[in-house]
Amino acid sequence: MFSALSRQPDDALLALIGLYRQDPRPGKVDLGVGVYRDEEGHTPVFRAVKAAERLLLDSQDSKSYLGLEGDTVYLDRLWRLVGGETGARLSAAGVQTPGGSGALRLAADLALRGGARRIWVGMPSWPNHAGIFSAAGLEVVPYPFFDSASQTVLFDRMIEALDGAGAGDVALLHGSCHNPTGAPLSSEQWALIATTLEKRGVLPLIDLAYQGFGRGLDEDAAGLRHLIAAVPESLVAVSSSKSFGLYRERTGAIFAVAAAPAAADLARSNLMALARTSYSMPPDHGAAVVRTILGDEALTRDWIDELDGMRARIQGLRRILAAGLRGVAPALQSIETQEGMFSLLPLSEAEVLRLRSEHAIYMPTSGRVNIAGLKTAEAESVVAKFAALR
Ligand code: LMR
Repeated sequence: MFSALSRQPDDALLALIGLYRQDPRPGKVDLGVGVYRDEEGHTPVFRAVKAAERLLLDSQDSKSYLGLEGDTVYLDRLWRLVGGETGARLSAAGVQTPGGSGALRLAADLALRGGARRIWVGMPSWPNHAGIFSAAGLEVVPYPFFDSASQTVLFDRMIEALDGAGAGDVALLHGSCHNPTGAPLSSEQWALIATTLEKRGVLPLIDLAYQGFGRGLDEDAAGLRHLIAAVPESLVAVSSSKSFGLYRERTGAIFAVAAAPAAADLARSNLMALARTSYSMPPDHGAAVVRTILGDEALTRDWIDELDGMRARIQGLRRILAAGLRGVAPALQSIETQEGMFSLLPLSEAEVLRLRSEHAIYMPTSGRVNIAGLKTAEAESVVAKFAALR
């Protein structure tokens, strides 16, 4: 059976990690996979995470199963962080998942059970979005979202596309820090998206994977808070990978949000049944860490301080890149006002490969750059190499 299988292409983003590691050149630059790095090129464990882990080591007295729902205290505290006061007024059925990817998969499975057949995805998007949704059995309907040459959101085309969606369709939205473009949406744009989806009877699925990396914890959730209050039902997939630096601990959650408690409850029952036949129960550790941090005022303050520092570092790098690229392409000034780890440079695949072979600068062939992978000291020389391509 196995020998009849066809070989699958490597995941382009994850394969970059291996290529970068194998490159012996000193001064190589990794702008690939979306993990935060500090000025030493290191992905740190948050101080608050270490402190919470110490507390857990002393206090945890069992490794018995968590249950299908996962850690319910984690879910309550995480939902408060994501939904704020708006979320508290709505009914949210949360289920802990293995990372944000697990949340997206459960969301797609639930939508299919609810009768959805199609999901609208603005392009470009994180490449695994389409992969996860198609693997679940949803038809992915792409529409143009961003033009990288002019660095603009194609908002009219987005609304036109969503206005053509049918009742019972799903629409994917990035909560903040759009991956791969970093392009923000204004509150007026969120309001128009909400009106359009509500009018068409489309279920929003909001992917919130970078809360705190854009403008701030509340600011990064403002659009989604508006949206979930404006529609009768929505799904919010949350990742704690970046916001708490828990990448490998696979920590996330899916929230089914409804105005009516009974509807949310039905969603929870189905999400739990879907989890049972997929991975059964989620891993404990990452959620226990988040629960511990969010349940302790001093740890929460320290976590937010460190997160604020990460965001400030990225914003500083954005300023340097925008200034350096001013003379190269005026549109690239937008890098400064884009949010989160990523921006999408208008580079051809050949140019990306040249940067890799000639200068040991690594990024996916889409031209997406993980700005958090840069060190301040190397930013200007990287800019000069981009500029030299023109
Ligand atoms: C990314 O886009 O680089 C991250 O979300 C990591 C991943 O799993 O692809």
